[in-house]
Amino acid sequence: MHISNYRYLLLPLEISRRIMSFANKVVIVTGASSGIGAAAAVLFATEGARVVMVGRNQSKLTKVAEQCARGGQAPLVIRADLANDDDIKRIVDETVNKFGKIDVLVNNAGMAIYGGVLSGNILKAYDETMAVNLRAVVHLTALAAPYLVKTKGNIVNISSIAGKMVLKAEYLPYSVSKAALDHFTRGAALELASSGVRVNGISPGPVKTDFIENTGMSEVTWDIMSNAFPLKRCSEPEEIAELILYLASDKAKGITGSDFVSDNGGLLQYIPA
Ligand SMILES: NC(=O)c1ccc[n+]([C@@H]2O[C@H](COP(=O)([O-])OP(=O)(O)OC[C@H]3O[C@@H](n4cnc5c(N)ncnc54)[C@H](OP(=O)(O)O)[C@@H]3O)[C@@H](O)[C@H]2O)c1
Ligand SMILES: *[C@@H]1O[C@H](CO)[C@@H](O)[C@H](O)[C@H]1NC(C)=O
Ligand SMILES: *[C@@H]1O[C@H](CO)[C@@H](O)[C@H](O)[C@H]1NC(C)=O
Repeated sequence: MHISNYRYLLLPLEISRRIMSFANKVVIVTGASSGIGAAAAVLFATEGARVVMVGRNQSKLTKVAEQCARGGQAPLVIRADLANDDDIKRIVDETVNKFGKIDVLVNNAGMAIYGGVLSGNILKAYDETMAVNLRAVVHLTALAAPYLVKTKGNIVNISSIAGKMVLKAEYLPYSVSKAALDHFTRGAALELASSGVRVNGISPGPVKTDFIENTGMSEVTWDIMSNAFPLKRCSEPEEIAELILYLASDKAKGITGSDFVSDNGGLLQYIPA
């Protein structure tokens, strides 16, 4: 047999290494009750991780937890409102009490509230959006960081292409929160690099989740979005989840402070409103 054929003998081993790549890793996913976070929680569970699911909606959390348990070990479910400081402390406390460590933090929970400059409600929209999309991320990251330093773990922040372009003027606070998130990712990456902790971001374009329903953007549908984007499609949550897993894995050991766009070509051209 030619020497190059021996690589096929290694294949089963390579596959098992991939499957076990998150064995016994403790992974916190915020916004795990739906969409991208739910897909990520399920994928991490099937790869052997001890998953900590964070969200508010109990029935949605329970459904996703059952899916996780079917593919791997049952997750720890923490019902928490990320706009509440005490809830954020509880996420870290309960995780460390149960598992003793944190390997990966996925800051995924996010929302958008209508609020334009002339709308009269921009401050309220700004405060509420920033509380969840930015302040909670900063707070949770700060509380988790000492544990991530111990495990040489890493962080993945879910941003949006709205941080690079203003998708809809009336959702300005959302775009502002995501632009700020991108820069926090870079700053935290620089600070934590000397501790061996990596920090990366992902900026999706349209992804078929409950996001439109949850933000009450009644004028938009996934079909309209699909037509407006160059690849004429929206992403499935699993596509973003795969990218999260890659960045959280050792395969990405050289990647930090990066921001991965997965937007069906949206940033390439002007998209009519
Ligand atoms: N879908 C898209 O087109 C798209 C595009 C670009 C970026 N993103 C980003 O992707 C991330 C995930 O969104 P998604 O599309 O998967 O939307 P989604 O289906 O609406 O999910 C949002 C998640 O965030 C959680 N969440 C929101 N506010 C929370 C709070 N105060 N406390 C705790 N959890 C909270 C929700 O949990 P509960 O409902 O249980 O509270 C839910 O699990 C967000 O950061 C979003 O900005 C989405
Ligand atoms: C939780 O989600 C379910 C299913 O989408 C929905 O019917 C219910 O109203 C939500 N509960 C709360 C408290 O928002
Ligand atoms: C993203 O990751 C970094 C790293 O921990 C964190 O400090 C930052 O606040 C996070 N979120 C945002 C908002 O970038």
